[in-house]
Amino acid sequence: MPPRPADLTSQAAVPASTGVAAVIVLAAGQGTRMKSKRPKVLHELAGKPLIWHALASAAALRPATLVAVLGHGRDEVGSFLAEATDLPKVTTAIQDEQKGTGHACACALEVTGALSGTVIVTYGDVPLLLPGTLQRLADVHTTSGNAVTVLTATVPNPTGYGRIIRDDAGALVKIVEQKDADDTQRAITEINSGVYAFDGDVLSDALGRLSDKNAAGERYLTDVVGIAKHDGRPVGSVHADDAVETEGVNDRVQLAELARVLNARLVRRAQLAGVTVHDPATTWVHADVTIGADTQILPGTQLTAGTVIGEGCSIGPDTTLSACTVADGATVVRSHADQAVIGAGAQVGPFSYLRPGAVLEAKAKAGAFVEIKKSVVGPGSKVPHLSYIGDTTIGAGVNIGAGTITANYDGDHKYPTVIGDQVFVGSDSTLVAPVTLGDGAYVAAGSTVTDDLGPGDLGIARGRQHVAPAWVLRKRVGTKAAAAAQSALADEPVHLPTRDKP
Ligand code: UD1
Ligand code: CA
Repeated sequence: MPPRPADLTSQAAVPASTGVAAVIVLAAGQGTRMKSKRPKVLHELAGKPLIWHALASAAALRPATLVAVLGHGRDEVGSFLAEATDLPKVTTAIQDEQKGTGHACACALEVTGALSGTVIVTYGDVPLLLPGTLQRLADVHTTSGNAVTVLTATVPNPTGYGRIIRDDAGALVKIVEQKDADDTQRAITEINSGVYAFDGDVLSDALGRLSDKNAAGERYLTDVVGIAKHDGRPVGSVHADDAVETEGVNDRVQLAELARVLNARLVRRAQLAGVTVHDPATTWVHADVTIGADTQILPGTQLTAGTVIGEGCSIGPDTTLSACTVADGATVVRSHADQAVIGAGAQVGPFSYLRPGAVLEAKAKAGAFVEIKKSVVGPGSKVPHLSYIGDTTIGAGVNIGAGTITANYDGDHKYPTVIGDQVFVGSDSTLVAPVTLGDGAYVAAGSTVTDDLGPGDLGIARGRQHVAPAWVLRKRVGTKAAAAAQSALADEPVHLPTRDKP
């Protein structure tokens, strides 16, 4: 494992103790505009579902309770949450019918029971919110003794959002939804992000008093602000520095936009940790990738979930590594690798295909048009050109000639090939598995090896060459080949078979 890799997790450093009692993540909505069979919050950004990002940010606050409210696609989302090993325990609450954000929170409280202290509410389809921003919201909320603190943002086009209504002194008065707003209110560009800090007791009380007498016929969580205010409790707001943090995903256009923003964050983090990224726009890095310092990433490179790259490597251009481990000083050029292990100083590509279980040990090489599956290529061993190597163990210092194939499959079963140390396999050989080549063995080029070779044996397994002298001069009279042969032979008459002389 490469030492000291740059941490590329999508979330910023975890704040210290936060005093947040609970985070409620709303994720019951349908996401119709995704036009997808998959629940919206399971669509992925940087290799992780939207809801994973929302929960990972929330979890960074170390709330005593973390609740997700599920509705549409609850089974799929629920099983994702149950199986996610990289998230803390998430309690799920079910909202059968989507009767509004206020109703969704009430569903959460039904499961958790009354929550005292600071309760944060956020959305499962808002993936870019940084823990630091949530922390700032929680801090402002507690230090100012607010009953409700709203995270607001200013956007060029506020259409669709709830608008932030302030009094002449600039104090928050209430939130008015697009559908319920008049023209003056609609002109306001400060919007409700949908993320709040509540006093738990105020929230429970206000949720019980929400009405659905509004344009949408829903129980609006936003009305908690007006209710608290009406009760004479202090309400306030925190303005997000970057509105993109508060953006939600409603369709696949927004999904791609936010993916680009998140990717830029991840690439930047790698760069600041000492990785040279030649073209951030065409370099795609998943959330849990780590890259060592002084590694360079060339354009068109995609590093997907679980990939760990050491120091001083060169990756790309035009390369995909999925869940691969690459040790220090390795080079991968224009290649595709999935669940492969690439050793220190190893060379891959151009145009190699490493499939699951391919292991290149230190300074090994997989070259052009080489496919390797479930095989170990030992230290310093080379598979340089046009080969398929499957279910094979190759020792140290081996050279596999161009075009060599391990025939590992008989149409029914797969069989192993074992190649010892310092073996030389001549070009265009077929090794018919199961077969073993002992240490230091040689295979003559063009062999089809079906029997084991002992240490130091030479195996020649091919038809003996038959030569018909000057055959072309007799059987291909008048061709360019015959003319060429004739002129060559004229220069060297000593080799002319006399009976065929024209
Ligand atoms: C809501 C806010 C609006 C804010 C906007 C920010 C209300 C009434 N309005 O708008 O002020 O500007 O978010 O995006 O809260 N959800 C449920 N159950 C429901 C309804 C919604 O779980 O019954 C979830 C959705 O899955 C989604 C989130 O809540 O993740 C927001 O729902 P959405 O319908 O997009 O928000 P709006 O009500 O339009
Ligand atoms: Ca929305």
